[in-house]
Amino acid sequence: MYVNVAVLKETQPHERRVALMPSVVAKLIKLGAKLHMQSGAGEAIKLMDSAFKDVAIVSDRDALLADADVVLAVQPPALGVIDAMKEGAILISFIYADKEPSLVERLLEKKITCFAMEKLPRITRAQSMDALSSQSALAGYYAVQLGSTHLGRVLPKITTAAGAIGPAKVLVMGLGVAGLEAIATAHRLGAVVEGYDVRPETQEQALSLGATFVETGVDATGEGGYARELSAEEKTKVADVLTKHIQMADLIITTAAIPGRASPKLISKAQVAGMKAGAVIVDLSAEGGGNCEDTRPGETAEVGQVTIVAPLNVPSLLGEDASELYAKNQYNLLALMMKDNIVKIDWDDEILAKTVLTHAGTLHKDAQKAPTKAGKDTKARTAKPAKKAA
Ligand SMILES: NC(=O)c1ccc[n+]([C@@H]2O[C@H](COP(=O)([O-])OP(=O)(O)OC[C@H]3O[C@@H](n4cnc5c(N)ncnc54)[C@H](O)[C@@H]3O)[C@@H](O)[C@H]2O)c1
Repeated sequence: MYVNVAVLKETQPHERRVALMPSVVAKLIKLGAKLHMQSGAGEAIKLMDSAFKDVAIVSDRDALLADADVVLAVQPPALGVIDAMKEGAILISFIYADKEPSLVERLLEKKITCFAMEKLPRITRAQSMDALSSQSALAGYYAVQLGSTHLGRVLPKITTAAGAIGPAKVLVMGLGVAGLEAIATAHRLGAVVEGYDVRPETQEQALSLGATFVETGVDATGEGGYARELSAEEKTKVADVLTKHIQMADLIITTAAIPGRASPKLISKAQVAGMKAGAVIVDLSAEGGGNCEDTRPGETAEVGQVTIVAPLNVPSLLGEDASELYAKNQYNLLALMMKDNIVKIDWDDEILAKTVLTHAGTLHKDAQKAPTKAGKDTKARTAKPAKKAA
C-alpha cells in the first residue's frame, strides 16, 4: 500500500522552482509515498532527473497524473492538469483563487481536494508549512542584494588609505517576513537601517534586528496580524513623517501588502523627485502594483536620478533555495494528512480546514470552518491508497 504522489514541471514563464527536492524524497517515502516526477521538473535549477533517486520519472504529463492520488506543484497549474487528474485526487499548490476563476471551476467539477498554500493559517504550529513565509524571507534577503548591485556605493563603512566611505542608509518599508529579513541582511552588510510599518508591534522586531524604527503615530493593525488600509487623513500624516527619511535613504526596500488589495502606495512621485541622486528603490510589492507611484512592475526604471527596481516572482530568482524550503513546507503539510501509507484528512485540524480551497465539489474560499458533513463522506475515498505505481 502506498500513495501515488506526482510532482509537476512548472510551466509558467520565469518559474524556476520545483515542488520536490532530493532532500525530502526519503521522508516522503517514509510517509508512504510512491514518488513520480515529470521529466525535467528540476532542470531550471540545474537538477537533472538523475538527481532524484527513488523517484519514477515520467515524461508524459497526463500519464503522470492519471494515477496520482496527490499532485504537488508551485504555481497554479494549467487547466489541462486538472482535466488529467483523477476525480477526487488531492492538489497542493499556490492557487490565489481570486485570480484563477476557471481553475477553481475545474477543481470543483473534478471534485479535487485542493490545498492552497497561500491559505495556510499564520499560526505557530503551521510555521514549518508556511510557504508564504519561507519564500518571503528569501525575497527580503534578495532585495538587499539586488539593491546593492544597482547602487553606486557600498553598504558598510569601508576605510582605505585614501579615506573612509559609507555606511549607506537603508530604509525598509513594510516589516512582515520579507521586510524583517531585508533589515537583518542590510544590517549584517553594515548599512545603517531604518524600518517602518503601520503595525506598532513591528517596532520591537525592527529594533531587535539592529534597525531604528520610524514612528508615524498611525496604528493600522488589521485582522489576523495583517495591516488595514489607511484613511486619507492617516496617509497624509504618514507621508509628512516619512518624506524626510525617504530623502535621506540611499536604498529603500518596500514590501507593504494588504491581503486582497492592491499594494498600498507608500512613496509618491513627489517623494521620488526629492530623493538623493543615485538612490535605489527595490519594490518587492510589484506583483500587487507596487508601493511606489513610479514603479513599473517587472521593470527597472530610471526616474530622474533614482533607479526603481520592481522584480516579479523574486523567490524564483533564488530557485534552488526557494525550492528547498517550499518542498519542506509541502512535506510538513503532507505529514499532517499521510500516515501508515494512506491519506487521512482530519477536518478538525485547523491547519487542514483553513488551507483547503475545494473539497468534494464545495468551495471553501474564505473557509475558517471545516468542510461540511458531505465533505467528510468523501474522506474514505481520499483515504484509499492506489493499487499500483505509474
Ligand atoms: N505566527 C506565525 O507563524 C507567522 C508566520 C508568518 C507571518 N506571520 C504574521 O503574519 C502577518 C503578515 O506577514 P507577511 O509577511 O505575510 O506580511 P504581508 O506581506 O501581508 O505585508 C507586509 C507588511 O506590510 C505592512 N503594511 C501594510 N500596509 C502598510 C502601509 N501602508 N505602510 C507600511 N506598512 C504596511 C504590513 O503590516 C506587513 O507587515 C504578520 O503579522 C506576521 O508577523 C505570522
